[in-house]
Amino acid sequence: MRLVPIECLNGGEIIAKTIIDETGSRLLSRNTSFKPYYKQKLVERGIEKIYIADELSEGIESKDVISEKVRVETIDLVKDMVSLFKATQQIDVNRLEDSVIRIIEDILNNKEILYDMVDIKTKDNYTYCHCVNVSVLCVMLGRKMGANRSYLKKLALGGLLHDFGKILIPDEILNKPLKLSNTEFDLVKLHPFQGYQIFKDHPLLTPISKAMILMHHEQISGEGYPLGVPRDKIPEGAKICAICDVFDAMTSKRIHRDPYTIIDTLNEMEKMTRYHLDPDIFKIFRSIICYYPVGTTVLLTDETIAIVEKNKTESISQPTVRVIYDLKSQQELFKRLDLMLCDDVKIKRELIPEEYMNNPSILRAMKQS
Ligand SMILES: [Fe+2]
Ligand SMILES: [Fe+2]
Repeated sequence: MRLVPIECLNGGEIIAKTIIDETGSRLLSRNTSFKPYYKQKLVERGIEKIYIADELSEGIESKDVISEKVRVETIDLVKDMVSLFKATQQIDVNRLEDSVIRIIEDILNNKEILYDMVDIKTKDNYTYCHCVNVSVLCVMLGRKMGANRSYLKKLALGGLLHDFGKILIPDEILNKPLKLSNTEFDLVKLHPFQGYQIFKDHPLLTPISKAMILMHHEQISGEGYPLGVPRDKIPEGAKICAICDVFDAMTSKRIHRDPYTIIDTLNEMEKMTRYHLDPDIFKIFRSIICYYPVGTTVLLTDETIAIVEKNKTESISQPTVRVIYDLKSQQELFKRLDLMLCDDVKIKRELIPEEYMNNPSILRAMKQS
């Protein structure tokens, strides 16, 4: 399978990963055939790329770190919790316990701790998908840091609930495509404290999860919110949550901007370790994130186009790739290359959708199947 901008699809390709819409139903179902009229409904929901299975990418498998079933059911559960709270002011954290355990089991069952995927979110479903993905990332980072199951459970719950306070912010502000006014931003900045108020007396949540809700926007310089405390006063769980939160937000398409590539995100986050993110924890985080997830299309330094086939923990910037097109000779190719073993060719960069659309050669390469 490979990740392809929807403009490049002709129809007939097999959809390789399910996408859930804001009502919890399947917008696109895995193993069904892509129809040209789907393009419009994807554009309306802010989706630019999907995973497809085709001849070109045969044998390339991008595996989610948790099963599709667990991801979909957890998104639904978080959504149900929000609806229940809005209607009755009641919270049912018990129901999340089971999901949390399944997330942890799935992650512990993976041999390697590698985040090797792109989480595709619809714009209306962003907050729910974001919370589940932050939870997944927190557990992966916690595992890499050597945390035990009990600590992973606290991280998972804190990740799922970190933005719960946003339900008190009007949707017009959360979904505003333009820059927020100062007053609006002040309202958004209340969400960690409001979330904390909702959960602070809840017997099932531990201080670690509560600190993640309250303090995931603190900065090591002491200039974050709501408390504005410095590095040594921010609990580890909140620092973990801050890193996973920034990563997931930057790599997702938002209403006001396109997603950053993973490599750009990591480079920006590296700069943020001077004043915002904990540098020691970020170093560990960086080691579990694949720069080019399996199924990504990349441009190599020898002007060929390739699809990432396999990532390895030992060298996350040098995956094994399948070279599919030579831009110089405009020829189709089919060659496997382990970039770890070759000194003269490197990845130049990930190809972004605009490049496909503005360069007929690249577009031709991407459409072959
Ligand atoms: Fe937040
Ligand atoms: Fe968040």
